[in-house]
Amino acid sequence: MRLNVLVLPGDGIGVEVTREAVRVLRHAAARWRHDLALSEALLGGIAIHKTGSPLPGETLRLASEADATLMGAVGLPEFDNAPPEKRPEKGLLGLRQALGVYANLRPVRAHASQLDSSPLKNHLVEGADMIIVRELTGGLYYGVPRGITEDGAETRAVNTMTYTRSEIERVARVAFRLAQARRKKVTSVDKSNVLENSQLWRRVVTEVAREYPDVALDHMLVDNCAMQLILNPRRFDIVLTENMFGDILSDEGAVLAGSIGMLPSASIGDRRPSGAWVGLYEPVHGSAPDIAGQNKANPLGAIGSVAAMLEYSFGLKEEASAVDAAIDAVLSSGKVTADLRPSGAPATTEQVGQAVCAAIG
Ligand code: IPM
Ligand code: MG
Repeated sequence: MRLNVLVLPGDGIGVEVTREAVRVLRHAAARWRHDLALSEALLGGIAIHKTGSPLPGETLRLASEADATLMGAVGLPEFDNAPPEKRPEKGLLGLRQALGVYANLRPVRAHASQLDSSPLKNHLVEGADMIIVRELTGGLYYGVPRGITEDGAETRAVNTMTYTRSEIERVARVAFRLAQARRKKVTSVDKSNVLENSQLWRRVVTEVAREYPDVALDHMLVDNCAMQLILNPRRFDIVLTENMFGDILSDEGAVLAGSIGMLPSASIGDRRPSGAWVGLYEPVHGSAPDIAGQNKANPLGAIGSVAAMLEYSFGLKEEASAVDAAIDAVLSSGKVTADLRPSGAPATTEQVGQAVCAAIG
């Protein structure tokens, strides 16, 4: 099979974790004799430095032509005080919107060998295994009006949380279909006791649920969900929620997995005319400029994102399972980076990537 993949390393540790993810992708392609065509482009802070824009036209063009895009992370401290339009994050948000990847899948799993990496008690995290399905192209991140109107003491800042019925329906269907292949349970998370936006969300999700009678649906308020994720994470199978809530809850979920460096993600849109699903794959973590360039960032979230790419964009289930199994094997072997608090000396980013390749065989 021909795998036409665009790589966007981005900023900070994005560069080094993506290098290891690409190592694993090359290895898997060679092992199963796929024809891998890689291209690379600029996104985020590095793109602002080199072109003046966080999402150059060339990057957008290459992303719309690729079968799948693998991204590292974006964000650099020198842009912390820049206006939203001139920030690295704007590049990522623009890319998600341009590709139309409205469903962001963030699997959260407590690996048996890594229970001690979580600050939570083992008996709480053990067996936790969920996918957070985060709506990715709507809500507060994109709603208008938005902006700051300067007026002395009356200076106002506005953001708008907006969803349409069709935006809720399409991401809900992704969640229910995923649930059908798992433990058949969707928990929809909202703030319907306060927000009209959440009232519509709850109403539409309840209607969509009727199309999936084999899946059980429950609703949870987001504040309670934040608590239940820690108190009783095993109760969750699929967590379905809007953009901002999903951003926050998925970082909390990282505590169950031992480190945010562990979490992969897949952002999926509609099918292209060719039949391929549009997909953007990125670890959940940020660019971590404080540890960038030190060869100590955890590449497993990025490598897990390659597994997700093989599965969702290319339908290569055997290859995807082999990468996931190799990640498990490396975790069990104890060859892990410092964020997972290994008992011995921590492994480097590069050593972990090499170990995953070796485990694939
Ligand atoms: C994430 C990140 C991004 C987001 C940032 C970098 C814009 O936090 O993917 O979770 O908020 O979506
Ligand atoms: Mg986030």
